[in-house]
Amino acid sequence: MVKSVFCLSLIFVHALLWAYDPSTADIAKVVGDKGGLRGGLGCGVDVGTGLDPFVRDPISLNGPWSYILDPQDFGAAEFYKDLRQDGVKLVQHDFDRAPTMNVPTDWNSVDRSLLYYEGPMWLRRKFSWTARPGRRAILRFGAVNYRADVWLDGKLLGSHEGGFTPFAFDVTSLLANKTHSLVVRADATRHPESIPCMAFDWWNYGGITRDVALFDLPETYIAEGVLQCAKGRLDVLEGCVRLSDARAGVTASVKIPELDVSAEAKTDAKGIARFRIEAKPELWSPEKPRFYEVRFACGPDAFADQIGFRTIEVKGKKILLNGKQVFFKGVSLHNEKLGGGRVAKGSDAQRQLELAKDLGCNFLRLAHYPHDEATVRAAERQGFMVWSEIPVYWNIQWTNEATYANAERQLCDMVRRDVNRAGVVVWSLANETPYGAARDKFLSTLAKKARTLDMTRIISMAMEIGDVKGDVCTITDTLNPYVDIVSFNQYIGWYWAGADEAARFVFKIPYDKPVVISEFGGGAVYGRHGPKTERWTEEYQAELYRFNLEMLSRIDGLSGLTPWILFDFRSPRRPCPGIQDGFNRKGLVSEKGEKKLAFDVMRRFYEALDRKPAR
Ligand code: GCU
Repeated sequence: MVKSVFCLSLIFVHALLWAYDPSTADIAKVVGDKGGLRGGLGCGVDVGTGLDPFVRDPISLNGPWSYILDPQDFGAAEFYKDLRQDGVKLVQHDFDRAPTMNVPTDWNSVDRSLLYYEGPMWLRRKFSWTARPGRRAILRFGAVNYRADVWLDGKLLGSHEGGFTPFAFDVTSLLANKTHSLVVRADATRHPESIPCMAFDWWNYGGITRDVALFDLPETYIAEGVLQCAKGRLDVLEGCVRLSDARAGVTASVKIPELDVSAEAKTDAKGIARFRIEAKPELWSPEKPRFYEVRFACGPDAFADQIGFRTIEVKGKKILLNGKQVFFKGVSLHNEKLGGGRVAKGSDAQRQLELAKDLGCNFLRLAHYPHDEATVRAAERQGFMVWSEIPVYWNIQWTNEATYANAERQLCDMVRRDVNRAGVVVWSLANETPYGAARDKFLSTLAKKARTLDMTRIISMAMEIGDVKGDVCTITDTLNPYVDIVSFNQYIGWYWAGADEAARFVFKIPYDKPVVISEFGGGAVYGRHGPKTERWTEEYQAELYRFNLEMLSRIDGLSGLTPWILFDFRSPRRPCPGIQDGFNRKGLVSEKGEKKLAFDVMRRFYEALDRKPAR
């Protein structure tokens, strides 16, 4: 009697009938410790180029995953643990009876009821495994926004924070010849200490938003294979192989069959073998995006990647690609499908790349966070140079050490993932951050870290103008000494001044560096027409572009433009009915892919640029 009353009251408390699922049996035990998700087997591994799904043939764990919403986060609460005591077979929750979603996907796109949901959510899939001796099994997530806590057969593997970079766990010791249960608690809830934190002008798409895969590798595998032009050299390639274990004295090699060049080197005490090869590859460029098959090998492991070779540098007020001056004819874009939803597979961004090509672009600002690998690879294959960025966006907790560690880890993971991508020419560390000593310390430290990770690319941050007095805009951001190019966002004609007033403004930029305008533009509702003085009409936006381009063209050292933004995108900050309807309308193209009048203003500007003699 007591037991049945106990069960009834418990079921009443939960008001939901779910069968108890042993694979989540340990969630309460682990997550119950002090209310948070701690611990885990601590078997996280760095995700280098050796764990890239494009160069290996991993076992995909994409596909239908059962999911259980958990808005009250009961799965991580103390009392839940008590519900399992006394051997009571409770009806708690049952992944087998739960709905499924096709991973990778943001959950917001799965069901209208989830459009604004930020989590947490529990997701599970089962998979079978055939263990082979002397092999290593690595479980890799392309990205989970924002936080992921991962269990395998009820054992917590660990937690990851950061919604746009890969992470992985060594699960070798946990896999056997049986069916396994993989459970992820994904949580997109915003926190003040996070990166990004509470406010950002894009949709907070949550969930397992990029590929999940199991890599079946040799016991000791190549964790990293890197090869690129030595800084400032078009006839010397430098790179390395890093092994998964710090084993010295192992012979590693790199080979480019088409160039008939190769090199061998022994690994050092950290398991790293370094190469320096004299070679004159045909260079990667937007006009001719040239790639070579590069083969990395070490012991029983080997993989090959398609790598382009080029140099990118700044010299005075010029940006040099392969030693020749280049202008970043760019546009900004979010990693979003047209109409909304996270880009989840390569084809999801193809239309956007085609539109950028129509615009006459050779450069893309992939805002405001690392975009998916397929898009970065497609961009370089189609001849786009890329600005890649971590989401240190607006105001974050500049004095919080954990926040800094998070930013640094997201930077390392972004660089580690795309180090072999010739298209990526700019690492951007921040966007529109407010002035202050704590911010300067945070970001100048991060800039120095970036230079230790990769000496061969441009370091930047999208900043604000700084000081406007009358018609004079002076670039005063104190972080400019730490970056290679002066990049700032300006909205003359939209957030201040009228569309036709832009031409009277002049810029004072006290740095002998190239200038890239990382954002400018204004809103328009596709199909809304009227006088060019009326905001939200296509005519107003086109007028704004005309005057802005005239104004910006006068900047000495102007070396690039990435107007904000290629296409209208979802934002919870843009509700205005009949005008924004949940979308930021600064796109040159609507969320349906319809070109607005300003698209042609921008396209003609780049076309005219191409006709000018090389500077
Ligand atoms: C800022 C910000 C963008 C935002 C834009 C806007 O510059 O960097 O993320 O979308 O302004 O106001 O539309």
